[in-house]
Amino acid sequence: MAVLPLIEFPETVLKKVAEPVDKVDEAVRKLLRDMADTMYDAPGIGLAAPQIGISRRIIVVDVNWREQERSPRGYINPEIVFSDGRIDFEEGCLSVPEYQAEVKRASRVVVRALDPDGKPVEVDAEGVEAVCFQHELDHLDGMLFIDRISRLKRSLYVKRRRKELAGR
Ligand code: NI
Repeated sequence: MAVLPLIEFPETVLKKVAEPVDKVDEAVRKLLRDMADTMYDAPGIGLAAPQIGISRRIIVVDVNWREQERSPRGYINPEIVFSDGRIDFEEGCLSVPEYQAEVKRASRVVVRALDPDGKPVEVDAEGVEAVCFQHELDHLDGMLFIDRISRLKRSLYVKRRRKELAGR
């Protein structure tokens, strides 16, 4: 069990396009366990490897753990192969402290990935789970939810964040 330090905006690793994983081995599985520990501790419902400073295409997701038993699911090299519908969803991010904003997303996505054993899996997700996948996959492409809001809202947040950081 290891809770890792979270990388926060505006660290540059969050802007990088993450590299695909070519071999799903024990090191990747250990990373996934640590990422799950970090996600629950934060607490959050999803986490992408760049958020712990590792620029690899790895995410962990568990959208229902507050209501149900914990079941962290790790996905390696995930891709959205189908999306449908629209949903406006109030998002936050463990790497964007003290901020939420509404983001337009697809209400349903189908994701293809490798599971922690390296086997191909396909997930059909709706609602909050679909939003979570889109948010985490954005992280793998160097994109944050604040890159999907209006320029005005974003600049207000960036200003506030700069002030906070300067005051530390
Ligand atoms: Ni995030």
